[in-house]
Parts: sequence; C-alpha cells; structure tokens
Amino acid sequence: MANPMLLLSLLAVSFSLASAFDPSPLQDFCVADFERSVQVNGHVCLYPKYVHADNFSYSGLNIAGNTSNPLGSYINRLTVDQIPGLNTLDISTVRVDFAPGGVVPIHRHPRATEIVTVLEGRLRVGFVTSDPENRVFSKILQKGDVFVFPMGLVHFQQNVDSGNTVVVAFLNSQNPGVVSIADAVFGSHPPIDDDILAKAFQVDKTIVEDFRSQFN
Ligand SMILES: *[C@@H]1O[C@H](CO)[C@@H](O)[C@H](O)[C@H]1NC(C)=O
Ligand SMILES: *[C@@H]1O[C@H](CO)[C@@H](O)[C@H](O)[C@H]1NC(C)=O
Repeated sequence: MANPMLLLSLLAVSFSLASAFDPSPLQDFCVADFERSVQVNGHVCLYPKYVHADNFSYSGLNIAGNTSNPLGSYINRLTVDQIPGLNTLDISTVRVDFAPGGVVPIHRHPRATEIVTVLEGRLRVGFVTSDPENRVFSKILQKGDVFVFPMGLVHFQQNVDSGNTVVVAFLNSQNPGVVSIADAVFGSHPPIDDDILAKAFQVDKTIVEDFRSQFN
C-alpha cells in the first residue's frame, strides 16, 4: 500500500512545479487590460473589440542599448508589461547589449527557462545546478550559437570579445521575473540582518557591511 506521507510530498512537489508555469490560454488571446483593478493570476483580458495589432507588437529591438555603466551591459526586456498581447501566452523576449568585458549580474528567473542566441560577438555563459552538486555548465558562444538556461537556475553571461556582443533570448513566461543574487542578498529593503548574512557566508560582519554599501 502506498505511503500517504510519500504521496503527500509527491503531490506538494508536483504542485510547486506546476505553479511555476504560466496559465494556459482558454481563448485565442487575452490582451492585458492594465486599467482594470481586478486581481487575477496575470491580467484581465481587454474586450476583444478594443484589441489592436499594436497590442501584439513592439518596435525598436534593433536599437543598441547604452552600455556605458559599471556592468557594461544593457537589458531591453519585453514582457507582458511592454507587449500586452503576451498575457497568458507563456513567452517573452529580451535583447542584451554588452561592452567588451561587460556582464549581466548573476541572476535567476523563477518562472522561466531561457534560450539565448548570439547575434554579434562572443559570450561566456553558464548556469549552476541546485544543491548539493552546484555543478557549473559553462561555455563560450560564438555568433550564431544558442544556449539554454534551465528554469529557475542561477546563471551568468560575460562578453569575452574585443568588440560589442549582442544577444536575443526568449523565455517561456509572460513575466519570467528576475532575482539578481547580489541585490536579493545585499540590497534588500529592509536589509537582511548582518548576523544572518555573516553566519550564512561564514565571514565577519564588516565584510557584510562592505558588500551592503555597494547596493545603497
Ligand atoms: C492597444 O493598441 C492601441 C492602438 O495602438 C492603443 O491605443 C492601446 O493603448 C493599446 N492597449 C494597451 C493595453 O496597450
Ligand atoms: C550613455 O550613458 C552614459 C552614462 O549614463 C551617458 O553619459 C551617455 O551620454 C549615454 N550615451 C548615449 C549615446 O545616450
């Protein structure tokens, strides 16, 4: 006979995995109506008679972002907030520009797998598997190369070319979410207790304060 506790924990696992995905559409489209205050998982649908082709469109992804900043990168994310026609459709896109040496800070997307294509330049990419292995899968991508960051895993990207690098990626959520590891840990509002961070990282509190000072 099946162990009821085991069944319960299996159910819990399958529910938590299922809730990571966007809801499936039950109609041709559900363009987001940002005006209505009703709270649902996603956005309420705009009345179809008010829907316009522009609501499925965005112009300007050909335009290079300004990478003159300390990270040397610029991210142009197109989620449901920029393209309301993405509502309920489980997809979004992003263009990232990198100056030589530029990085996207180490981060994860809680709700999406990401598939990236290099359009120009060369990019070092990688992701880290979950505990206890924390194994890194990393390689250098050339122009035309494609790489996948599996759902929710911590990943990194750096331009290793002498010129600019440009990538376009697709993510299987209308709202993938971004958790920047450094911001979440050292730049939170209000701050996480120094004592918690010092113990978690096994360092002195002054080192924690030093890290935190970079995020204020
Ligand atoms: C849909 O497109 C129309 C026409 O461009 C625009 O007036 C309207 O604001 C758009 N709706 C949303 C939710 O963006
Ligand atoms: C790029 O950003 C830098 C820093 O904010 C700014 O000084 C510069 O004028 C910007 N360049 C362009 C072309 O907008």
